[in-house]
Amino acid sequence: MRVLVVGNGGREHALVWKLSQSPRTTALFATPGNAGIAQLATCLDITAEDIPGIIDLASSYSIDLVVVGPEAPLAAGIVDACRGAGIRVFGPTQAAARIEWSKSFAKRIMEKAGAPTAAFELFSDYEEAKEYVREHGAPVVIKADGLAAGKGVVVAQTVDVALSALDNMMLSKAYGSAGTEVVIEECLTGQEVSVFTFTDGHSLTRLVAACDYKRIYDQDKGPNTGGMGGYSPPPWWDEAMEEYVRELCIAPVIRQLAAEGTPFEGVLYGGIMITAEGPSLIEFNSRFGDPECQLIMPRLENDLLDVMDAVLDRTIDDVDLIWSNEVTVAVVLASAGYPSGYTNGKLITGLANIPPSTMVFHSATAEINGETVTNGGRVLTVVGHAASLSDARSLAYQAASAISFEGAQSRSDIAEFSS
Ligand code: AMP
Ligand code: GLY
Repeated sequence: MRVLVVGNGGREHALVWKLSQSPRTTALFATPGNAGIAQLATCLDITAEDIPGIIDLASSYSIDLVVVGPEAPLAAGIVDACRGAGIRVFGPTQAAARIEWSKSFAKRIMEKAGAPTAAFELFSDYEEAKEYVREHGAPVVIKADGLAAGKGVVVAQTVDVALSALDNMMLSKAYGSAGTEVVIEECLTGQEVSVFTFTDGHSLTRLVAACDYKRIYDQDKGPNTGGMGGYSPPPWWDEAMEEYVRELCIAPVIRQLAAEGTPFEGVLYGGIMITAEGPSLIEFNSRFGDPECQLIMPRLENDLLDVMDAVLDRTIDDVDLIWSNEVTVAVVLASAGYPSGYTNGKLITGLANIPPSTMVFHSATAEINGETVTNGGRVLTVVGHAASLSDARSLAYQAASAISFEGAQSRSDIAEFSS
């Protein structure tokens, strides 16, 4: 099978790595890819957002399966467009991906499905939203309805912060039309976990869980990022919790989407808060997480191509998904200045010196004159795998310390537990 992966991050490198192991993969392409992906696949130069360009590529390279990594093309309807052109594609339609691109839609679906989630109200009127915040008080969470590159959520500890978030989203239109409607919801506290399932729109596999670290600095200080590292599975994740989250949070939402005529086919990512009252849904995404994908692909024992085929053939019920007992820990190496401004083109050294039981997924790199250089904010995701979390952690940090580029920054407290 000739497979094309769309995207250029660590998530896509992990997908390409896993797909490259399938005996049924005869040719592997990525667009636009990066320097790491280029070691396993032929990289093409169409961006992930250029849907007509990707359709042309799929035809001219006789692609049998397109695998979509990021959310933006899903929200823009890449799956619908590919299907319209007769191209087999892994991912949800635009209507099903709405579970990610509209937070108000997601909340309504969760409510109709009876799934546990933070209490919420929807507002499209700025004055009414302000009045609600003043009455409700803080802490409170303000979310722009649409996609805002991970920046549309403000967990406000004071009423002033909540009001200025409303100003920013609804008046100043900091995120454009994404802020036309806002969700104001109850602030939950607890441990956050990301869960993933493969679903064909009707049935779903067992879940796999991972935790990521969103803030740039140790002890969860500083601004939010795309994710600075993580671990899988969490030490406290067990069968009872998996069963509870699968049956009460994830399966009802999949059934609800199907009942509304928009079955979700692909990987569904649930963001869950384990509160004192039990697990509660925070959000849904319509794709793998990054860095979660780099944490879970090394643990997947099945052939990923078989699993993706089962999603598309509506036979996911027959798939026995097997996640290894190994633990993975990921440490992201980011450019100086990330998540604000940063400079590309810094030489990366040490990539050939990483120890056994570790892997380096490229998140934003380029090859220039035979050398690998930085090409974005999150540059590399270094993963260690071992029987225990502490060993996986040591391995990840050992590998990370072997690699260097000017100004590299990483968190030093990933998977550190003071128990
Ligand atoms: P999202 O963009 O929906 O992933 O939200 C970003 C982050 O905001 C989440 O990962 C949580 O840490 C936080 N968050 C979102 N909703 C809530 C909530 N209701 N209570 C507390 N934290 C939240
Ligand atoms: N790690 C968070 C995300 O992929 O959305």
